[in-house]
Formats: sequence, structure tokens, C-alpha cells
Amino acid sequence: MVECFGNIYRNRKVLVTGHTGFKGSWLAFWLSRLGAKVTGYALTPQTHPSHFELLDLDMISIIGDIRDRVKIEEVVQQQQPEIIFHLAAQPLVRYSYINPRETFETNVMGTINIFEAARKIGCARAIVNVTSDKCYENKEWVWGYRENDPMGGYDPYSASKGCAELVTRSYQNSFFNIQEFQKNHTVLLASARAGNVIGGGDWAQDRLIPDIMEAVAQNKKALIRSPFSTRPWQHVLDPLSGYLVLGQKLLEAKSEYAEGWNFGPGDEGALTVEEIIQRAREQWGVIHWETPAATAKELHEAHWLKLDCSNAHMRLKWKSVWDTSQAVLRTIQWYRRYFEKNEVSTLQDIETYITDATAARMEWTT
Ligand SMILES: NC(=O)c1ccc[n+]([C@@H]2O[C@H](COP(=O)([O-])OP(=O)(O)OC[C@H]3O[C@@H](n4cnc5c(N)ncnc54)[C@H](O)[C@@H]3O)[C@@H](O)[C@H]2O)c1
Repeated sequence: MVECFGNIYRNRKVLVTGHTGFKGSWLAFWLSRLGAKVTGYALTPQTHPSHFELLDLDMISIIGDIRDRVKIEEVVQQQQPEIIFHLAAQPLVRYSYINPRETFETNVMGTINIFEAARKIGCARAIVNVTSDKCYENKEWVWGYRENDPMGGYDPYSASKGCAELVTRSYQNSFFNIQEFQKNHTVLLASARAGNVIGGGDWAQDRLIPDIMEAVAQNKKALIRSPFSTRPWQHVLDPLSGYLVLGQKLLEAKSEYAEGWNFGPGDEGALTVEEIIQRAREQWGVIHWETPAATAKELHEAHWLKLDCSNAHMRLKWKSVWDTSQAVLRTIQWYRRYFEKNEVSTLQDIETYITDATAARMEWTT
């Protein structure tokens, strides 16, 4: 496994913010398997069970708030990371309607705090800022969004991710400008935009797979609000391989990669919620669902979002390895093993993913 990504992460000091969350725990685990010295910075796990706790990782885990700029600077000063993957965020759309201030403070000021720590302390050579496909101004059209499309965001969460992208652009222009790279600064900053990810170990509320698995655990029917909404689904390992390829390029001091990147699934990934549930049920017959009675006021949520990933395909040589069927299969198998055998199959998933990526001749596997 250590040979992947040009072996660049071996013995590398890496800071992962949001390591106690779903994507962050998978990333921290993969990085430690790649031989990196991983430090995490996040709040205590918010879910029980928690994927991070189940993994019992050999890493430095620092519990702190991303809004606490003094503490973040101390951590960066002490740990001296060479690369930062920034994933800590309030990531839920519906929660953001109830707590808009917290969402903006966490997702926008939290991002600025990380960038400022990197700017002042100067140890990091690379930053990958994880935002979202929701950062784009959503025109509800059929075409995929390109990296140079306008930022936007209807709900507070989406707007906060659009803002985090604008902050990134500002820092790329003002402080980490590639024209000045290795003259006035040594940091390459990029952002990564991915969409709905699924995979084992997610227990966040208001997400399809965790809601279904919670219902399975309680022997109930899952309440599915919008069965006909279409989303681009992908397994968590797909965007993570994209973040790691991007991080590799930045660590190799390739300044032409210090920009925004889409990491979405192929066209076959666009399925309705109902189609995803049907596929999940084919894997595990215990899954049952129903739509709730109409609520008083439905919150606005985007119905259709697709990313154009041509740039990542062409220049990073990155593509999704698992199609949606594989993503659902792996995800349901992960939960089934956990519920039936109390096994955590994260490592097996990563190994299978790398085997499949090698067979698909992904450049990052060498
Ligand atoms: N899961 C998805 O489908 C998806 C899709 C697009 C983008 N993203 C983005 O990926 C990143 C990770 O999302 P996730 O799905 O793993 O979410 P998650 O809720 O599972 O994890 C969020 C992480 O951020 C940390 N965090 C939240 N508020 C914090 C604060 N104030 N201070 C410090 N840490 C804080 C949490 O402790 C946790 O470790 C986020 O930036 C999210 O917006 C996720």
C-alpha cells in the first residue's frame, strides 16, 4: 500500500482536520497505512458508534474547535505538518437552517483559521481544502458544473462552502500566489469539491445510508423524505483517492495544480434515492422504508447536482474506481459485517479498492 501516490506520504507529517468524522476517519486511516505521521484536529466524535473510535488509530488525536484560532496555531506550531487536509466542517444542510451562524463560523472562519496558521507558521507546503459540490450556484440544470463556474449556495451550508471557496481563491491570490511560490512563500493551496459520498461507518443524521442503517439497528422502517431526488453517489474512497493525488502533486511542488478540483462519480452515479435503496435491499433484505407524512414546511434542498470532472480525468489522471453498484455493495457489506459479526472492514475495503484501481491502471497506484 505504501507504494501508492509515489510513496510521497511515507514518514510525512500530515494534519487532518475533521479526523473524528466520516470522511476524515477514512482519510486518517488510509494515510497512516501509507506510512504518514498523522495528527488530527476535530471535535469529539459526534455519533455513537463512531468510525474513528472503532478504528483505534495509531495517530495523534487533538480535540479542539476549528473556530479557536489560538489553539489551531499552537497545534500547527507544535506538530509542524508538511501537508494539511482540511475537512472539519458543519456538513449538514438541514442542520444549517437551524444553526446558520454556527455553520458559517465553522465552515468559513474555521477555514480562515487553518490558512492563517499555515501562513504564519510556514511549515506546511501543501493544503487541500475540502469543500463540496454544493459550492456552485445551482441552476438545477442537467449539465455538470465545471471548476470555473460561479460559486453560490441557496441554503446556509451550501453558501458556507461557496464562501470557503472564495476564501481559498483570495488566499491563492493574496498570500499563496503561484507566481510568488518559492520566492515569497512555500505553500501550495488547492480545493477539492465532491458530492454525496457513501461508505461504511457513517452515522451522521439526515443522510441516506446512516438513516437506513439506524432503522435496521432498531428494526424499523427508514423514513425517506425525497425518494425521487437524484444525486451523484460515490464511495468515500473515490474522492479520498482524488484528495491524495492532489496532495501528492502539491507536495511535489507542482504549482499548476494549486486550484479548485471536482471529484465526482461517472454519469452512471446519478441515481434516485429510491434506486439506491433498491440496490441496498438487493444486498440486505432487512432494509425497509417509507415516506413520512408531509411536514408543515419543506426546507429547500437542491434536487439535482452533477460535477464535470474532465479536468481531474485529464490532468490528475484521476477517475472513480467503483461505480455506484460497487459503492452500494461495499457500503452495505461494511454495515452488515459490523452488525452481524462486529467486524470493521475498513482495511479490507481499502485493499480491495487499491486492487481494483491497479487493475484499472490508475496512475496513483504506482
Ligand atoms: N459526506 C458527504 O457526503 C460530503 C459531501 C460533500 C462534502 N463533504 C465535506 O467533507 C468534509 C467531511 O464531511 P463528513 O461527511 O466527514 O462530516 P462529519 O460530520 O462526519 O465530520 C465532520 C468533522 O468535522 C469536525 N468538526 C465539525 N465542527 C467542528 C468544529 N467547530 N471544530 C472542529 N472540528 C469540527 C467533526 O468533529 C468531524 O470530525 C466536510 O467539509 C463536508 O462539508 C462531505
